Amino acid sequence: MYYDKLDDFPPDFLWGAASAAYQIEGAYDEDGKGPSIWDVYAHQPGNTFNGTTGDVAIDHYHHMAEDVALMAKMGLKAYRFSVAWARVIPDGDGAVNEAGLDFYRRLIRELKQNGIEPVLTLYHWDLPQALQDKYGGWESREVIPAFAKYCRTLFTAFKDDVKYWVTFNEQNVFTGLGYRWGNHPPKVQDVRRMFAANHIVNLANAIAIKLFHELVPNGLIGPSFGYGPVYPLTGAPTDVLAAVNADDFNNNWWLDVYCRGEYPYFMEKTLTRMGLMPDVTDADRALLKQAHPDFLGINYYHGGTVQQNRLEKPVAEAAKKDFSATDPYLMQPKEDQAQSPEVPMFNAVANPYLKKTDWGWEIDPVGFRVGLRQVYEKYRLPLFVTENGLGAVDQLANGEVDDQYRIDYLAAHLRTMKEAITDGVEMIGYCAWSFTDLLSWLNGYRKRYGFVYVDRDDDGPKQLRRIPKKSYYWYQQIIAQNGAQI
Ligand code: BG6
Repeated sequence: MYYDKLDDFPPDFLWGAASAAYQIEGAYDEDGKGPSIWDVYAHQPGNTFNGTTGDVAIDHYHHMAEDVALMAKMGLKAYRFSVAWARVIPDGDGAVNEAGLDFYRRLIRELKQNGIEPVLTLYHWDLPQALQDKYGGWESREVIPAFAKYCRTLFTAFKDDVKYWVTFNEQNVFTGLGYRWGNHPPKVQDVRRMFAANHIVNLANAIAIKLFHELVPNGLIGPSFGYGPVYPLTGAPTDVLAAVNADDFNNNWWLDVYCRGEYPYFMEKTLTRMGLMPDVTDADRALLKQAHPDFLGINYYHGGTVQQNRLEKPVAEAAKKDFSATDPYLMQPKEDQAQSPEVPMFNAVANPYLKKTDWGWEIDPVGFRVGLRQVYEKYRLPLFVTENGLGAVDQLANGEVDDQYRIDYLAAHLRTMKEAITDGVEMIGYCAWSFTDLLSWLNGYRKRYGFVYVDRDDDGPKQLRRIPKKSYYWYQQIIAQNGAQI
């Protein structure tokens, strides 16, 4: 840091925390809710860690008022949550389930009565199973009007009460894990199908944003992208080129579509040569150009480091399915020097300068500032950090959780975010992941992120008691002073 003094956080900065429906709600088949692809997938043996499911999760559905009371006591300014599509429209594109809609109506009312700004995510990965069965999910354009209908329902119901809306959570992650790596539903391992499904999600995103601007003229909407800057392993020009390629492949492929309304030029040419470019019609291109997000949501956990891919396969041959030792969820190699034959333009490696979490995710607060700077410089949209946090094994001892490591992690990231604000980045707010402990999609209940401990584990829900951790009281102070002590 080279400033003698940092700028203050904006006076209306949204200090928040986040969650997602499947990871907290439970009540998976109550009050008319239909099954989502995650309900079905998690029930199939072998798909999730220890067979964990979101059937009960942390039972937020029945603890909502208690959870919001804890948010209010903390002084939270914003709470990001997602709506379960299948709770509102059980079969995806049929009749609206008033009881499901009512749950979110009550949640939003509770938040507003406590002075907490709701931030509503439309899609956090739990597609109604009926749309998967009927159309083939995101591989079919038939899902687009269904999504538009679902969006219209929520826009109409909540346009006066919800100002901030997120379209898709981490489109890059759910299409990658669902269609390339095959460890999220629908468990496909085919990179060509991934690009095709991803294009359909892009169209759904554009339609939702256009519709939003017609129906909610005073609201703000944007996607939340799983972002990380890319570093070259060395200063060798070949590694620098690999980093340029990886940035295109991992980031620009989504961000350029969201923010510029077009696919990045070099990448499109390369994918076309590889035979991986999805079918994009002129009408599609026109639609993408018409959608203008009001802000960009950034979910930041870590970036990535790459070097030249030593295999040097020609792109056409490399496009044949071939999976490397790269860890699909981490998007980092399990071992150094893992080769990525499927995408020969770069090769992910561990960064020798960075420490890792218990789950092997690199800890890189400086990369947060780098990333915020790069994205703001390129797209000039206000940024809203919609996720950032540390997954760890927490110990409940004598009724308390001393998670000083989480405080250290969050403090380091808040510090570099404040530096980015001082640099000139325009920021709306910051939602830590997560408010309460919750279900990790692939890691069960052992990997905890919350400010509030929930006493359940992989074996069962226990009492589901809520116990504020040390980090809860720390964040309460940060909010009270609008980050002045950072
Ligand atoms: C993000 C998701 O990718 O990372 C969250 O939006 C998720 O839903 C979070 O929980 C942390 O991932 P994990 O695997 O550690 O639970």
